Amino acid sequence: MTASAPVALVTGSAGFIGSHTVDALMATGCRVLGIDNLSAGSRANLRQWDGEPRHTFLEADVTEGFESVLDDAASRLGPVDCIVHLAARTMVPLSVEDPITDIRVNLEGTVKILEYARRRRIRKVVFASSSAVYDDDAPVPVSEESRVRPSSPYGIDKLGSELFLDYYARVHGLTFTTLRFMNVYGPRQDPESDYSGVISVFLDRALSGRPITIFGDGEQTRDFVHARDVARAVVSACASGVGDHAVINIGSAEETSINRLARMILDLTESKSPIRYAPLRLGDIKRSVTTSDRARALLGFSPAVGLREGLAETLAWVRQTRQSTEVVA
Ligand code: UD1
Repeated sequence: MTASAPVALVTGSAGFIGSHTVDALMATGCRVLGIDNLSAGSRANLRQWDGEPRHTFLEADVTEGFESVLDDAASRLGPVDCIVHLAARTMVPLSVEDPITDIRVNLEGTVKILEYARRRRIRKVVFASSSAVYDDDAPVPVSEESRVRPSSPYGIDKLGSELFLDYYARVHGLTFTTLRFMNVYGPRQDPESDYSGVISVFLDRALSGRPITIFGDGEQTRDFVHARDVARAVVSACASGVGDHAVINIGSAEETSINRLARMILDLTESKSPIRYAPLRLGDIKRSVTTSDRARALLGFSPAVGLREGLAETLAWVRQTRQSTEVVA
């Protein structure tokens, strides 16, 4: 182990975006300390780092009791240099159903991490916010200057967290970068949960021949960005002096309707799954796509994985996962 390599703490490290972030950070040669309560994440997402001395995983929850776990780890590994805060409840409809839990995990969890960063004098916090903070009536593509007015408790908690970051920076001297992710997809996004990202859900339904459900008329749009691209943006933001105190949208800058996505997935899988329409979900936004100008200027980031290529890769992963589950069953 390189004892002098900086330690990056990743919250939610066993999750879908978290594990891609760990991969990208490990590739830079730094040491990674990951925590996750395994409520949505899975140890299997980090198997590739088992036995690697630069990687440490600890089961811990950002809502309580993580401080002593981290202090204990830091006494062995050395102080944490940068925190990538990804741990969250990411499902918009669940936040509508149960806003209290959403506040506890997404807002309170963030403040607890920021308090930890302040008390331990950690150099920087990179925070995963969301395009769910924008006003649904804001013209698209949205830029970071677009009006914010979340349509869901989830978006409110992300926006509230952003305000806390700004407060910690102004009052306590914390350095941060806020990344507003568009719709992230790719391998390791749980295909079996109904509340997973739409691409994983559609791939799962298409492969099993079950109906694909489109909420609303399907003309709502999303900006689908591959998790590897997102992880690259996170790694860039961890660097000293890069994107400090900035809010930066991370997306593909490509707008795709849910109807188009469903057709692409049915074509790709050669599936006969029927498409059914159901009422629009509460809290759903209508159009979402971002410009990438600020990400390019501040992080040197531009998306590398196109949607077709990313879908094919994700399909291969879902197929492989289904096969190994069938073998075990
Ligand atoms: C997603 C993320 C959220 C992130 C936000 C950023 C997930 C689970 N949610 O929210 O964490 O902050 O993007 O923009 O990754 N849909 C269907 N049928 C389905 C499932 C979904 O029609 O079976 C539709 C939804 O109604 C929605 C769109 O697909 O209009 C995308 O849904 P989803 O993937 O759940 O993501 P968001 O709600 O946009």
